[in-house]
Amino acid sequence: MKDVITIDGPSGSGKGTIAKLLAKKLGYRYFDTGALYRAVAWKTAQEKIDIDNEDALNTILRNMKIAFEDERVIVDGQDISSEIRTGEIGELSSRVSAKTTVREALFNIQREMCLQGKVVIEGRDTGTAIFPESENKFYLDADLEERARRRFEELKINYPGITMEKTIEDIKKRDLRDSSRESSPLTKSDDMVYVDSTGMAIDEVVSFINTNLK
Ligand code: DC
Repeated sequence: MKDVITIDGPSGSGKGTIAKLLAKKLGYRYFDTGALYRAVAWKTAQEKIDIDNEDALNTILRNMKIAFEDERVIVDGQDISSEIRTGEIGELSSRVSAKTTVREALFNIQREMCLQGKVVIEGRDTGTAIFPESENKFYLDADLEERARRRFEELKINYPGITMEKTIEDIKKRDLRDSSRESSPLTKSDDMVYVDSTGMAIDEVVSFINTNLK
């Protein structure tokens, strides 16, 4: 299985940017799995449900329709692409993604989307749980300060009051939750190529991955 390229890594590691550029370069589709968890988080916030209420969560998962149209995220006919990019939804999506029922519900959607053909898929468990059989698996990392700096630059556009200290704290919290949960935590498996992008230019990272493809 070489047509599915998986890129996993922590928040702010640059997975989204790199995966998108790599997909464009190769003529592959791009699939942001984090958007699925963000969409579920957004829906729970809309419906004001307690995410610890498993029945309510299951009802949402059964009924919501998630679609991707040219990288726009559409939930039940509504384009929520910008709404899911807030700091609050980022935090809530990390909490929602620790729920096994959510991961199970999203598993098939991810498999099906990837079986449609060549794709670069990025997230936290795409190489360990979604496409473990892929031969092209990467783990993208960068040091905490650099990841926080990238996230800070993104967030300060909409949140002028945000500070670097708060961003670092939030990233640390998310890293810990995403990598310590029971259900398919973020982890680097032995068959992934590790890429530390600290101090690397975006195009350097893309070409490093490209030259390491099988
Ligand atoms: O990559 P992101 O920040 O958009 O992801 C949002 C959250 O979704 C992240 O904190 C953890 C979760 N996630 C996950 O558990 N598994 C994935 N494959 C992708 C994202």
